[in-house]
Amino acid sequence: MSFLGIDLGTSGLRALLVGEDGRPIGAAERSYEARRRFPGWSEQDPADWIAALEAAVAELRTNYPDFAQLRGIGVSGQMHGATLLDKDSKVLRPCILWNDMRSHVQAARLDVMVDVRALSGNIVFPGFTAPKLEWLRENEPEVHARVAKVLLPAAYLNFYLTGEFVADMSDSAGTSWLDVGGRHWSDQLLSAGHMRRDQMPDLVEGTQEAGRLRSEVLRAWGLSGPVSVAGGAGDNAAAACGIGALRQGQGFVSLGTSGVLLAARDGYRPAPETAVHTFCHAIPGRWYQMGVMLAATDSLNWLARITESKPASLTAPLGPTLQAPSRVRFLPYLAGERTPHNDSEIRGSFTGLGLATSREDLTRAVLEGVAFGLRDSFEALQETGATVENLIAIGGGTASHYWLKLIATVLHMPLSLPVGGEFGAALGAARLAICAATGADPEQVMQMPGIGETIDPDIDLQARFDAEYSAFRASYPAIRSVQ
Ligand code: XUL
Repeated sequence: MSFLGIDLGTSGLRALLVGEDGRPIGAAERSYEARRRFPGWSEQDPADWIAALEAAVAELRTNYPDFAQLRGIGVSGQMHGATLLDKDSKVLRPCILWNDMRSHVQAARLDVMVDVRALSGNIVFPGFTAPKLEWLRENEPEVHARVAKVLLPAAYLNFYLTGEFVADMSDSAGTSWLDVGGRHWSDQLLSAGHMRRDQMPDLVEGTQEAGRLRSEVLRAWGLSGPVSVAGGAGDNAAAACGIGALRQGQGFVSLGTSGVLLAARDGYRPAPETAVHTFCHAIPGRWYQMGVMLAATDSLNWLARITESKPASLTAPLGPTLQAPSRVRFLPYLAGERTPHNDSEIRGSFTGLGLATSREDLTRAVLEGVAFGLRDSFEALQETGATVENLIAIGGGTASHYWLKLIATVLHMPLSLPVGGEFGAALGAARLAICAATGADPEQVMQMPGIGETIDPDIDLQARFDAEYSAFRASYPAIRSVQ
């Protein structure tokens, strides 16, 4: 038997084939772009996701004979995106993604409505799904009138695979339409956002079966079936499954397009006033909390782009040894910020530039700005009572040892690096597939990975970074007042 974990990310799709013991057999990836037609917009064509999936599966079929024994699939998706289907299940317009800021006015309006935070457990952030539909109602009313279903990216892939409209709890928690404590659609939240229950997919837990692979896809992929498709998960819950973060005290820091500090919780403990997100886990009866910064590796990618360089060429000259804080300060708000500011209009800045400032100084400032942004999330998480005893570092940014040492120092927390190449959202999705197809116990399937290296804080530099963090904290209100 083999199982497929699909991670439908913001910059590409990763398909990971694992055996019945959950060990990776092989992976294939395809990338795609987000379109930014206007400042603050970010959209993707769902047809690009399907093309990426089909190409990745074709590669897996060619390279790994075990694909023929496929028994289960799980999908992890970039969260919050609104994929809109008409009554014939045709896509109505490009999907509006999680990092699209156009609906900040609608988000602010929903956020202050009676019971909205109490039921959804969260601030209504502009990136969430409900405000996107409100924007659509006001700006593209003819499209809004034709919306028969709203699917998150992972649920759209579930629909492509099974022909059924099914979403999981962890992803649906980021819509502002779900009663996150009760784990069901809330009629009150739906009507606040001018939506109806029949426009929502059915809900299952991530470990439950959402449906079976439809016959056309079975045939096209050369399979005899049946192949079970799991509820799946939002990408952060899936990554938590990938590193076995199911219980209080376990968590991760993810250096991806967005920067995430996630802590698993034993119960539902919403604290929207902290701008921390409280979402259902992909495991029944569990929740997690996270702080989200919108531009983590995106900040470094931006610097690489404008200096006509590559992120790795920017960080390589820094070497492995952490240096004292840079004289240049970078505020990482290139796409606005969620935790702790909930501010979609703020933008980034460099200060402290001088004639002697080098590209290396700018790089250090960017890495530091992101590390301080993560500390903001860390402090906000602590306000909710979340505890993290063990922080595993995942995501593309972990390629820079300098950055990891810096983050460990700024957070006062050792960072553990898993051994082996697979422990992210694709592995979590494959683990959900195993649970849904075989009924296996998630606690058994979702073990922590082996740890290769632990990166300790640099005790000698900690006080200097603490002082610089305080100055970074104070810069936000200062820059806010002039922007
Ligand atoms: C979480 C969030 C991002 C996306 C990235 O709330 O918006 O982490 O899930 O894919």
